[in-house]
Amino acid sequence: MENKTALVLGASGLVGAALVEILATRDYYQQIHLLVRRPLQLASGRCIQHVIDMDELQRYNHLFEVNDVFCCLGTTIKKAKSREAFRRVDYEYPVEAGQLAAQHHVDGYYIVTAMGASSRSSIFYSRVKGEVEDKLASLQLRSLHIFRPSLLTGNREEYRFGERVAEKISPFLNPLLVGPLKNYRSIKASTVALSMALTAEKPVKGTYVHLSHQMADQVARHS
Ligand SMILES: NC(=O)c1ccc[n+]([C@@H]2O[C@H](COP(=O)([O-])OP(=O)(O)OC[C@H]3O[C@@H](n4cnc5c(N)ncnc54)[C@H](OP(=O)(O)O)[C@@H]3O)[C@@H](O)[C@H]2O)c1
Repeated sequence: MENKTALVLGASGLVGAALVEILATRDYYQQIHLLVRRPLQLASGRCIQHVIDMDELQRYNHLFEVNDVFCCLGTTIKKAKSREAFRRVDYEYPVEAGQLAAQHHVDGYYIVTAMGASSRSSIFYSRVKGEVEDKLASLQLRSLHIFRPSLLTGNREEYRFGERVAEKISPFLNPLLVGPLKNYRSIKASTVALSMALTAEKPVKGTYVHLSHQMADQVARHS
């Protein structure tokens, strides 16, 4: 086992939970710290959870003394109830985490944003995702990996109409989306998570964007 440590934000989410499960079953990280706002049932003794208020992230500065930081935070406008509250979760927390990661000279910062992320987008969601990417890229992190999935599928308790439809039709629709359209195929949250884990195990300097079909291809090559 490598003597490496990781910090995960958003560990209770669809991608985050899959990521923690993958990291805990692989041998790359000896310790996996989770920043959560409610206690989780932990399957692995290698995971250490810290129940915190994300608004006070600065107080947990010391927890960023790790090799790699993974950010799987996110919400929806429906859940957040306002654009400001959405932006806090999808922009401010990831940027603050990025600043703390940069201060501690972590090896890598790995974040999930979304397909279509662009600070020039007229769509609020895509614009916030683009802005968080741009801000993180300006922080001079040693290594920044941005994962931009298309619609996610997986077992989510909460009802999200688009995801439920995608789950049902993706076995038929995905094979029809070929060539440049491949990027529009829905993707399993576990595939995104495995792509993040595999990428972190081969550290490279610089900023990289991983599109949905690239994550799917990487994971298919691996299995
Ligand atoms: N859903 C899709 O189809 C889709 C497609 C493309 C990209 N994405 C993006 O991919 C990322 C991961 O998505 P996901 O579906 O895995 O997310 P998710 O299941 O909704 O999980 C989001 C995570 O963020 C945490 N979180 C939300 N609000 C918070 C707050 N105010 N304070 C602290 N933590 C908070 C949640 O914690 P709690 O469990 O405590 O709420 C959870 O751990 C997100 O950035 C999302 O925008 C999603």
